Amino acid sequence: MGAQDKIKQLHKLRTESQLGGGQERIDAQHAKGKMTARERLEALLDPGSFREIDAFVVHRTTDFGMDAKKYLADSVVTGWGTIDGRTVYAFSQDFTVFGGSLGEVHSEKICKVMELATKNGAPLIGLNDSGGARIQEGVVSLGAYADIFLRNTLASGVVPQISAIMGPCAGGAVYSPALTDFVIMVRKSSHMFITGPDVVKAVTRQEVSFDELGGADVHAKKSGVCHLVAADEAESLQMIRQLVGFLPSNNMEDPPLQDTGDDPNRMEEKLNSIVPDDPGKPYDITEAIRLIVDNGEFFEIQDSYAGNIVIGFARLGGRTVGIVANQPLILAGVLDIKASIKGARFVRFCDAFNIPIVTFEDVPGFMPGLDQEHGGIITHGAKLLFAYCEATVPKLTVITRKAYGGAYCVMSSKHIRGDFNVAWPTAEIAVMGPDGAVNIIFRKEIQEAKDPAAKRAELIKAYSEKFANPYAAAGRGYLDDVIEPKQTRPRLIEALRTLQTKRDSNPPSKHNTMPL
Ligand code: HXC
Repeated sequence: MGAQDKIKQLHKLRTESQLGGGQERIDAQHAKGKMTARERLEALLDPGSFREIDAFVVHRTTDFGMDAKKYLADSVVTGWGTIDGRTVYAFSQDFTVFGGSLGEVHSEKICKVMELATKNGAPLIGLNDSGGARIQEGVVSLGAYADIFLRNTLASGVVPQISAIMGPCAGGAVYSPALTDFVIMVRKSSHMFITGPDVVKAVTRQEVSFDELGGADVHAKKSGVCHLVAADEAESLQMIRQLVGFLPSNNMEDPPLQDTGDDPNRMEEKLNSIVPDDPGKPYDITEAIRLIVDNGEFFEIQDSYAGNIVIGFARLGGRTVGIVANQPLILAGVLDIKASIKGARFVRFCDAFNIPIVTFEDVPGFMPGLDQEHGGIITHGAKLLFAYCEATVPKLTVITRKAYGGAYCVMSSKHIRGDFNVAWPTAEIAVMGPDGAVNIIFRKEIQEAKDPAAKRAELIKAYSEKFANPYAAAGRGYLDDVIEPKQTRPRLIEALRTLQTKRDSNPPSKHNTMPL
């Protein structure tokens, strides 16, 4: 064969590789309203930036007649490309080849891009659409999964890892996405579960549909496994692009600085009246967040799970910040088991990737009750406390209203290395709310008073005057300042600038023993 023929052969083989499982299966994929693995990568990455590797890899199985069924690239497309000009590594499982099932070479291809991402310090993005372990390869495919799990774990905290679920993801296969930092699911077309509806029925006699068991909404609202839900595949890929835009490429870099065009000195008069006069009345903390951050853009994560705590990314003066906020609209912003876990995981992600944490605090305390105590609120609440304590990134805290009890300590207080702690004049910082406090410390006086109700009201007023304000804390230096709410944006941006050069560390250890 001459050189020209060899070049022709190369083009032929590449075309064959790009056809995956063939036109018929591509059409079947489209008929389900799904994109192919390569179409997804094209939509995810900057136009024309995708560079495929391992396009000629084929499986080595001979059992069950598999030696007669080989597809170039096997069942996953791997390589790198750019998002807004920044390098990312990606794999995209190809359902048109053996249902995207994972065997030895499929795993080898994924492991190769994982290692490249980790070594070169670039985010890893996995687009999952797979029938799971390749049945014909038996135990080899189980080992192949474990090879990926190990690399997910070793890459954790080194490069951001993002998983999108765009089809089935069942059995042990769910553990690769679960080991990554963010899981995005596509409504209706994606499912995640350890065992499917048939096994559930056999074991528990419960009849459930795929969606009820492991659909996007179930994992976004109930289990918390899913961090972002997309209406369709195109939206999920745009979400990944947006998310990557907030993040540094690796743990040695700072997040990208973006010129957002929003005036750092912008003050919002509306913030001065956002906290209602009645301390029992709720308000929406996301409204305050949007008034403060650049261009009102708040990329909320897990917005339908444990809504009493709000987490997400935004920019302040062009710098990425991770925002954690109690949400008075839901359960008065109380910290319960789910909120503690949600907050802790996010704080740790931000700390791992040099993202300053801005905390907005309005919290009546930890959730009381039998369910919470028996569910382990002590251990789970300790996760949030631990996460804030160990974090060495810049920590900025704004107390908007209540900061009661242990929750005061937990929410990035000065005592646990808060760098910039301020309160609005509406702040109330105390061991507990005035009603509860008076009932305990003045029980006798109230009982013995001629008019117990009047006495109680008088004592509540006296307690409120003493503690339902920020000045007792400010008087001890637990707060750096009390600010007018409208000044929040410029003051946070100014503080972030001064904290850019912050250096802090924890005592050396193999790793800590966080209360998991
Ligand atoms: C090999 C597989 C496969 C698999 C699907 N295919 N799953 N091949 N191993 N696990 C092949 C089918 O034979 C078919 O090939 C093609 O992929 C498309 O599958 P269909 O069934 O036609 O598609 P659909 O009707 O859309 O159903 C998709 C599906 C179903 C729900 C994923 O295929 C299915 O239930 N597959 C098995 C899932 C499973 O039990 N996996 C093992 C899970 S346990 P042709 O040639 O006809 O196109 C597991 C353990 C991991 O993964 C442990 C890790 C530690």
